[in-house]
Amino acid sequence: MANITTRPVTKLGIVGAGSVGTSLAYAAIIRDAAREIAIYDIDAVRAEAEGLDLAHGTQFTGANTVTGGGNIEALAGSDVIVITAGARQQPGQSRLDLAGVNVGIIQNLMTQLMEQAPDAVYVVVTNPCDVLTVAAQKVSGLPWNRIFSSGTVLDTSRLRLLLAREAHVLMTSVHATIIGEHGDSEFPVWSSASIGPVPIRDWTISGRQVFTQEYLDAVTHDVVTAAYKVIEGKGATNYAIGLAGVRIVEAIMQAENAVLPVSAIMQGAYGIEGVALSLPSIVGINGVYEMLAMPLDDTETRKLQDSAGTLRNTLAELGV
Ligand SMILES: NC(=O)c1ccc[n+]([C@@H]2O[C@H](COP(=O)([O-])OP(=O)(O)OC[C@H]3O[C@@H](n4cnc5c(N)ncnc54)[C@H](O)[C@@H]3O)[C@@H](O)[C@H]2O)c1
Repeated sequence: MANITTRPVTKLGIVGAGSVGTSLAYAAIIRDAAREIAIYDIDAVRAEAEGLDLAHGTQFTGANTVTGGGNIEALAGSDVIVITAGARQQPGQSRLDLAGVNVGIIQNLMTQLMEQAPDAVYVVVTNPCDVLTVAAQKVSGLPWNRIFSSGTVLDTSRLRLLLAREAHVLMTSVHATIIGEHGDSEFPVWSSASIGPVPIRDWTISGRQVFTQEYLDAVTHDVVTAAYKVIEGKGATNYAIGLAGVRIVEAIMQAENAVLPVSAIMQGAYGIEGVALSLPSIVGINGVYEMLAMPLDDTETRKLQDSAGTLRNTLAELGV
């Protein structure tokens, strides 16, 4: 038999085999994000079945190994662990309503996960992801850059989709970001938003200003309430967060140093510390290298402070 040289093994651990965890695993095998994918869930029967179903498709993807089960030891040696376990939003329920239940779950999980993968980079997807990031960091003692949440990566994608359609350009030519809480107090930064190099308010089609203040307000509302709309219709959001989560995993695994609006614990920028919220951040092999101090106008700075205030109050209420 020939000497076989293999690529270095990259391992993605996923906690939770529900709608989000399995969509993330599905996106990860299709995008070939990791050589090995292990899914863990307290519902062992479901996790095993999901793992098998995904593994059965891997003839048609990258050469991935996928397993699922109820033994947390399967996550040992993961380079990245994405946490999707917990209760999910019910119709009409806000992300912050979920906080109490999911804080307890993540605190318990992190203690166990640190025994299996103390060197992993952790990405929290379970909601409210900003609040859970702080709870998880405190219980694990991980440095702030190695535990963060998917934040507003998904919300930013929702925003760019709507703006790109309206501007009639490719989504990747839209430069606009949602920052703050992944939740009701999040907001787009219009002061630096652009289509290609053109400031968003200057974008015209046949001499008509496309992005009027009225339009910008309406699109903000649509993005902030997008999850509620999807949950009303199908009970969960899963495909887009699966892709957004894998995009973050790729940035870490491939040492990309990509700028993504993830949510990490603030270290004093804008006078905010101790709460996790989203800002465009450099994401690479060690997690978050830097949360970028983006220029904000006075209104945006106030909104960011308000978002931090909302999160600070929730953390205090929960005793985190
Ligand atoms: N951050 C985002 O942008 C974003 C987007 C969509 C969903 N979410 C959140 O992701 C979470 C998961 O949503 P879902 O639709 O997959 O829910 P789901 O109910 O389909 O799946 C959750 C899974 O977690 C498992 N679980 C619960 N407690 C566990 C524990 N202690 N250990 C291991 N597994 C455990 C359950 O058995 C279940 O399989 C929710 O909190 C949801 O709000 C976040």
